[in-house]
Amino acid sequence: QIVPVVLCGGNGTRLWPKSRATRPKPFIPLVGEEPLFIATLNRCGDRDLFGSPIVVTGAAHLGHVEEQMDDANGEVIVEPMARNTAAAIALAACRLSADDVMLVCPSDHHIADCEAFNVAAARAGELAREGWLVAFGITPDAPETGFGYLKQGDEIGEGAWRIERFVEKPDRALAEQFLSEGGYSWNGGLFAFRAGTFMDELEAHRPAIAKSAREAVAAGHEEGRRFFPDAAAFAAIESESVDYAVMENTRRAAMVPVAMGWSDIGNWHALHATVPSDDDGNTVRGRAELVDCRDVMVDTDGPRVSVIGLEGVVVIVDGDEVLVTTREGAQKVGKLFGASNQ
Ligand code: GDD
Ligand code: MG
Repeated sequence: QIVPVVLCGGNGTRLWPKSRATRPKPFIPLVGEEPLFIATLNRCGDRDLFGSPIVVTGAAHLGHVEEQMDDANGEVIVEPMARNTAAAIALAACRLSADDVMLVCPSDHHIADCEAFNVAAARAGELAREGWLVAFGITPDAPETGFGYLKQGDEIGEGAWRIERFVEKPDRALAEQFLSEGGYSWNGGLFAFRAGTFMDELEAHRPAIAKSAREAVAAGHEEGRRFFPDAAAFAAIESESVDYAVMENTRRAAMVPVAMGWSDIGNWHALHATVPSDDDGNTVRGRAELVDCRDVMVDTDGPRVSVIGLEGVVVIVDGDEVLVTTREGAQKVGKLFGASNQ
């Protein structure tokens, strides 16, 4: 069985005003009625394939996690402060046995085709057992700079390739070069590996993170289903993502390409592209009237919104906050908070 390790951190400020520090992106219904966090847990619900999940989250999000997580099973690791994904994954790895296979899942993605996800997860699990660090390759359709890029290398088995090169968040010029060159996929942000393989690679490339994570878990304590790592040991860890710390450096990286209707819903425009729209490309949630509009999305939880004669505009009303933006502007919503990439 594969252990789902669900990562819940970050504020998701690019989906403001629905997503706020007090109630971030994974915990609000964005696609359909189900919050992305719940959808992530449900997606790993096939008990033939997956074991009980481990959720790694910050103290600030613990209330939402426990409210939305089925109490029956699973562990919640509570980080005393955010130290990015290398540390978060290391905590989970140290709670498991070396031979356990983990599937690291971001909690804020949408995946339309669960069956395709299951097939890819099962294949990734097999490769993980053989000692690979497995990423999921998504066919790119634009030179996005917010993703990792995987260069497909030699075939290592059915539906699986070695990753020849892993480049996290290239600049625009490099991303364009990858796309025109061909042979590159986006990194889907999901990873599968043995807990022991991950810790070996972390030890090899970031020994200080590995050491502090081990100490934080050894000196941590349980409270019911919650696990609290030792705060002092954890605080000493350098903030770095798993992509830079391990995936760019390891020589045991493999990829499973998968078409599963994946979206990381990085902004309102991306969400609009993910949810159903009418013949004019308009999407309405809540009370709104659209006249002569194309590709407009309105989401309001209260006031009635009327839009006339606009194209490619997003209007979001949440309580006492209103956001009006364009397709271009949707990428920059994080800038309202001084964060460009959250
Ligand atoms: N527990 C915990 N603690 N979770 C965290 C932390 C942390 O300190 N930091 C981030 N996370 C969670 C986020 O909530 C998200 O679910 C996941 O880890 C990935 O973090 P992001 O901050 O969203 O990463 P990214 O989007 O910039 O980049 C990653 O995902 C892309 C695909 O969406 C990389 O893996 C890229 O290579 C990849 O293309
Ligand atoms: Mg992300």
